[in-house]
Amino acid sequence: MRTILIVNSKGGCGKSMIATNLAAYYAREGRSVALADFDPQGSSLQWLEARSPERPPIEGMAGLESGFRLPRQIDYAILDAPAGIRGAELTALVRRAQTILIPVLPSATDMRATARFVRDLLLVGKVSRKETRLATIANRVPEAPPWHVPPRSC
Ligand SMILES: Nc1ncnc2c1ncn2[C@@H]1O[C@H](COP(=O)(O)OP(=O)(O)O)[C@@H](O)[C@H]1O
Ligand SMILES: [Mg+2]
Repeated sequence: MRTILIVNSKGGCGKSMIATNLAAYYAREGRSVALADFDPQGSSLQWLEARSPERPPIEGMAGLESGFRLPRQIDYAILDAPAGIRGAELTALVRRAQTILIPVLPSATDMRATARFVRDLLLVGKVSRKETRLATIANRVPEAPPWHVPPRSC
């Protein structure tokens, strides 16, 4: 099983969008997939509820429920993290993950917030020991320049 954590403390950067797309991709490839939603807003599980039952199956799980356990016989577990995650909650999710994906939007505010988040993430033992694979995803980047860069004097 490969456990992929989609995380960034910044809200609205595309965590649930990427989590649901990844889950759907692996399911369509014929892999067994669990999608665990750790956000009380439950966007991923709501997406799963709205998904046609004729599509390849994805097992939805509410990560916040007590006694949460990932099924053992599964190819991919996708963990959708909540906004604002830090401290012990972040460490607990990172412990489960082999791969960590960090979506980031191309705005100055989002990039600053993400830089702070990555700084915190690098302090988590499993990450600092390089026991996880780590990647950022530039999400919603316009195909062509000019990108919006606010003037410094604003
Ligand atoms: N690549 C994308 N293209 C278009 N819309 C996107 C994309 N990524 C995210 N969105 C939209 O942006 C909003 C926030 O995304 P969401 O996945 O809910 O963020 P998060 O889970 O990080 O809070 C949603 O309305 C989502 O549909
Ligand atoms: Mg979300």
